[in-house]
This record gives sequence, structure tokens and C-alpha cells, in this order.
Amino acid sequence: MLILIEQLGIGAADLAAAFLFLYGLHRMSSPVTAPSGIFVAGIGMAVAVLASFLYAFGVDTAARSNLPVNISLAVVALVLGGGAAWWSGRKVAMTAMPQMVAIYNGMGGGAAGAIAAVELFGNKAQGETELIVTLLGALIGAVSLSGSLIAWAKLDGVINKPVRVKGQQAFNALVMLVTVAVGAYIVVASADKAALVLAMPTTIYLFFGCALALGILMTLPIGGADMPVVISIFNAFTGLAVGLEGYVLQNPALMIAGMVVGAAGMLLTLLMAKAMNRSVSNVVFTNFGEVAKHKQGKIKGSLKPIQPGDAGIAMRYAASVIIVPGYGLAVSQGQGKLFEFVKLLQAGGVSVKFAIHPVAGRMPGQMDVLLAEAGVPYDLIVQLEDINDQFASTDVALVIGANDVVNPAARTDKSSAIYGMPILNADYAKKVFVIKRGEGKGYAGIVNALFYADNCDMVYGDAQTVLVKMIEAVRGLNLPAVA
Ligand code: TAP
Repeated sequence: MLILIEQLGIGAADLAAAFLFLYGLHRMSSPVTAPSGIFVAGIGMAVAVLASFLYAFGVDTAARSNLPVNISLAVVALVLGGGAAWWSGRKVAMTAMPQMVAIYNGMGGGAAGAIAAVELFGNKAQGETELIVTLLGALIGAVSLSGSLIAWAKLDGVINKPVRVKGQQAFNALVMLVTVAVGAYIVVASADKAALVLAMPTTIYLFFGCALALGILMTLPIGGADMPVVISIFNAFTGLAVGLEGYVLQNPALMIAGMVVGAAGMLLTLLMAKAMNRSVSNVVFTNFGEVAKHKQGKIKGSLKPIQPGDAGIAMRYAASVIIVPGYGLAVSQGQGKLFEFVKLLQAGGVSVKFAIHPVAGRMPGQMDVLLAEAGVPYDLIVQLEDINDQFASTDVALVIGANDVVNPAARTDKSSAIYGMPILNADYAKKVFVIKRGEGKGYAGIVNALFYADNCDMVYGDAQTVLVKMIEAVRGLNLPAVA
């Protein structure tokens, strides 16, 4: 009877969780439905986690005496982990989100590695196939754990330079080979016995040690600008590792969640690489931004400062304005003031749109989330490929805390680190205003010729402060709203 409750309960919960994961993911495809999609997928995760307590009904009599302790430990882990996640999730700044994703992703990889470790040290593998799958999950999970931690350290500024030495790639390949060889040895040595006997804890430690070292070595040489792509790769790894361990445990919810995360991570990686016009191998094996910035020639023209109020008033008298938000807008948290300014322009009959570059900011979708937070209607937000042709017929392009995503060097300068990356054609607008604090460079570390162009004026200051001054100046005109 107990076994029946266990099997029926777990089967139904797994099915419900799988449906909720997929339905939640489907809702994440649009910014309008994404918040509810995240909520739905979260419910799916809660169902899957709670259902795992049903396994208690199937525990054999010999192990039943351990149940109270094990269930208590699981509850304590859930309360501590859930509480820490709730607290940090509420507290994290929008600009620190990539670091947080890196940490959580690492934990996912670590969890998959831990399941594998329990299986391996407990000698639980039922046959060679299961052993190979367990080892594969262990390898990928451990690489994802240590690699994600290095990615976090880089994004958080704990490690602030790529660590490169001569012959590094060959050495990494060697560590990879040794890890695979140790794994193969475990499989071959166990296969000699009638039943698999993994009485080789030292070899298993060595295997995990090599896999963890591989994750660190792979990530250390990669530059900070490429970290979001690297996190996405590790995200795909974590999903794969979880899916493999789900197979080992014969747990459908884990298998489905793992495969969904793995596929989503891989697609996101490819999309980000495409948006930067780079291949995934170029991201992993080259040093983005460091080579070309030293070669940059002298830029023609001059920087022309203008007061925020003058720029604000000029936009109030324009017929059309396209706003290009970038990383600096997120830093200043000026999205609320920006929308207030936009509403003033619209009240004056100005047509306003937002142009979104797929890699503006520091993580995918950051600008969409920022604008949604301020209540900007989705029909004003237009993606790069749909808006790029409209700049040439637009009066003003207002660039706010964006730099690389509007750098014309991506079109013209073959030696530039961002050459080939699609950019927003802000420089084609009749007039360009750029809000930034000073002469700070973008993430790629290169000077932007747009700022020196004849049609461009610089509005210096923190984005939020500048926007407040623009609002005051436009309000000070006391112009009537246009019907
Ligand atoms: P960036 O090129 O990084 O430029 C941001 C600019 O904002 C800086 O030049 C900075 O100049 C200015 N700024 C900083 N704080 C500010 C503040 N409080 N107020 C006003 N301005 C401020 O940003 P972007 O154009 O959004 O480009 C994103 C870059 O990140 C690209 O190179 C992209 O490839 C890279 N990247 C993004 C992603 C994702 S998924 N989004 C992934 C990988 C790489 P000042 O210091 O002078 O103010």
C-alpha cells in the first residue's frame, strides 16, 4: 500500500512538475508573460521537491530507522537554502544579477556532482552504462561548479584580469585527457568484477579533483566581457549534468528539468554569440577586447558637451526620438525618471521608441527587464533588427549609458575587438545626444568615434541626475499638451 502511494504520488507529481516547467518556459518567451512564467516554473520546482519526500514511503524496513534523521536534515537544508535564496534574491541589485546567476548555476552543477559522488562512493551503479552516465554527470557537474565560481569571481571583481600563461590551452587539453583517462580506468577496473565494485575512493577523489581543476583552468583565461556567455555555457552544462543524474536515479522530474535547462542554456549561448557576431569557440579561446584597443588610431572630431536642459528642450521640439538604453542606465537606476521624461515628450506629440540591442547591459534581456520595471509599454520597445532602418529618418537618437552597442567601429574598423558585431545605427540619426558620466569606455575597452561625430553632443553626468534636469527643463517651458 505504502509503495503504491509512493509510486502513484511521485508519478503524478513528476508529470505535473514537467508540465509546469514547460508551460512556464513557454510563458517566458514574451516580456509580457515572463513574470508569470517564472512563477509557474517555480511552482513546478516546488512540486518536484516536495514529491521527493514521498520516496520515504518506499524505504525498506532496514533503513526505516534512519528516516526521521534524514527527513529532518532535508527540511533543515530546504529551510536554510530556500531562506538564503529568498533573502539574496530580494536584495540583489539589477547590475549584480549576472554574478548571482553564476553562483546559482554553480550550485546546480555542484548538486549534480554531489548526486554522482553519493552514487560512486556508495557503489550504487547497476551496470556499466549507469556507471558511465554517472561519471559523465559528475565530470560535467564538477566543471560547471568550479567554472561558475571563477565566473562569479570575475564578474564580482574578485579576479579582475584574465589569467593567461604560455601553453595554457595544451595544458588544459592534457588535464581533460587525464580526467577522461581516470574515468575510463574506473569503468574498466570495475568491469573486471562479477558485480561492479568501486572500492577505489582515491581514484574517485582524483577524478573529481581533475574535473574541478578543469573548470577552473578553462575559465581563468577568459576575459570579463565574455563571462555572461560563459555562464550560459555552464548553465547548459549544469542542465546536462542534472539530466544525466536524473537518468541514474530514474527520476523523470530531474531528467526533464535538466534537459530543459541544458537546451535553453545552449540556445541562449548560441543567440548571444550570434548577437556579438562571434563563434562560441572564439568566446572560449580568444582574448576579447585586449588586442585591438591598443591599436586604435586617432579619432577625428571633438567631444562637444551640452547642458541637460538644452538637450531636453531640443528633444521636446523634435518630431521623433529613439532612445538607446545601455549598461549605464542600469547602473544609475534611472529607468523611472526616463519614462517620466518620455511621457513629457509624448504629451508634446513627440514620437518616442526604445531601441534594444540584444547584448546591451551585462546580461540577456537586461534592458527589457529594466524598462518593464519602469512601466514602459511593450509596444514602445523595439528590437535591433526591427528599428535599425528607422534611425536615418529620426530627429534625435538619445543614447543613455550605452557605448559599445552604438560604436560604429563595429562596422568599419577591422582591427576593432567588436568588428562585425551588429550595432544600433544611432549615428545615422539627424542629431545624437549621449548621456554618460565622462570619458569612460564601454565593456570592450575601446573609444567610440560616435561621441566625436559632428552630429553628436555629450550630456555629462549620472543618467538619473541628467534625466531629472531634462524633466525640469521641459516642465519649465510650460507648454500645453498636444491632443
Ligand atoms: P557599455 O559598452 O559597457 O558602456 C556603458 C557606458 O555607460 C560606459 O561607457 C559608461 O561611461 C556609462 N555609464 C556607466 N555608469 C553610468 C551612469 N551611472 N550614468 C551614465 N552613464 C554611465 O554598455 P553597452 O553599450 O550596454 O554594451 C554592453 C557591452 O557588454 C557590450 O560590449 C557587450 O558585448 C558586453 N556584453 C554584454 C552581454 C549581455 S548578455 N548583455 C554579454 C556579454 C558581453 P562613463 O564611465 O563615462 O559614464
